[in-house]
Amino acid sequence: MADPKPIIFSGIQPTGSKHLGNFIGAIRQYVEGQDRGEPAIFCVVDLHSISVPYDPGDLRERVLDTAAILLAAGLDPERCIFFRQSDVREHTEMTWLLSAVTSHGDLDRMTQFKEKVGKARELASAALFYYPVLMASDVLVYRATEVPVGEDQRQHVELMREIARRFNARFGDTLVVPELVLPEVGARIMDLQEPERKMSTTGGTEQGTVLVLDDEKTIRKKVGSAVTDSGREVRAAPDKPGVTNLIDILAVARGTGRAEIEREFDGAGYGDFKKAVADGVVDLLGPVRERYEELRPDEAALEATLAAGAEKAREIAAATMVDVRARMGFG
Ligand code: TRP
Repeated sequence: MADPKPIIFSGIQPTGSKHLGNFIGAIRQYVEGQDRGEPAIFCVVDLHSISVPYDPGDLRERVLDTAAILLAAGLDPERCIFFRQSDVREHTEMTWLLSAVTSHGDLDRMTQFKEKVGKARELASAALFYYPVLMASDVLVYRATEVPVGEDQRQHVELMREIARRFNARFGDTLVVPELVLPEVGARIMDLQEPERKMSTTGGTEQGTVLVLDDEKTIRKKVGSAVTDSGREVRAAPDKPGVTNLIDILAVARGTGRAEIEREFDGAGYGDFKKAVADGVVDLLGPVRERYEELRPDEAALEATLAAGAEKAREIAAATMVDVRARMGFG
């Protein structure tokens, strides 16, 4: 018998400035996951945003930006469940209930928390410390089997697996232990200016970060000024991080592999190669930006899409909560 289809869940931070690395590493994977998952559930995680200082009016705008980018990239509300976290209150209730099987020590070991707070531990919000429990709730309340996220989220996924196991051991078999699913190799897109580090809107360089919504001129400028090396060979190699990154980007944009790109540009200079990479990125992102510009102004339609998604999500989450509450001895 064929394996049952996975229940896929992933959460997306509400930032308006998604970049090429997010697009290739995450967003494309969600779009592909829609037909593999049954269901595939994607959530804009606005409740997580309050763990750091934020502006309430701005948060709502960023949620709509993010929703419009994902829809423009091909998320289809008919083929997946796409919603805003704060619209489904079961996430918050589940967070409190799961804290019964989460220890302070677990949270204290989270490296992302430690990195984020640095020495300012006293000033960090309790929400930031609690972030991994909310994230566990996001996934466990849907009894999801697969969590597609980046490598940086591995520890958080390990913790949610442990929380599910502990819950089941303490209260009886109720929750599903989900699997981490990393994006395919080649999905690690580096900063164009500093190719030793991941492309990032917070930690990277502005010139080295191509945004999904950049216009054609900006894309060409950023790719054109990408760091390469003093050689002239278009070849992927550990001592050629800049060129390797551009090869990977073009391979993804064209839907081929490194070898095909190396063959095509064998003997060509970096100038022609970069021009081809810029063309590839423009072709990849251009249609997304156009579609975004159509979708973003209609906030009522975006809200309606999110509300319809929340309704579908709530149905699943509420059923889990009935079991969880009963197991835990609530009325
Ligand atoms: N913490 C994740 C990130 O920073 C976002 C997220 C929140 C998430 N809840 C989730 C990812 C649940 C997967 C599943 O990318």
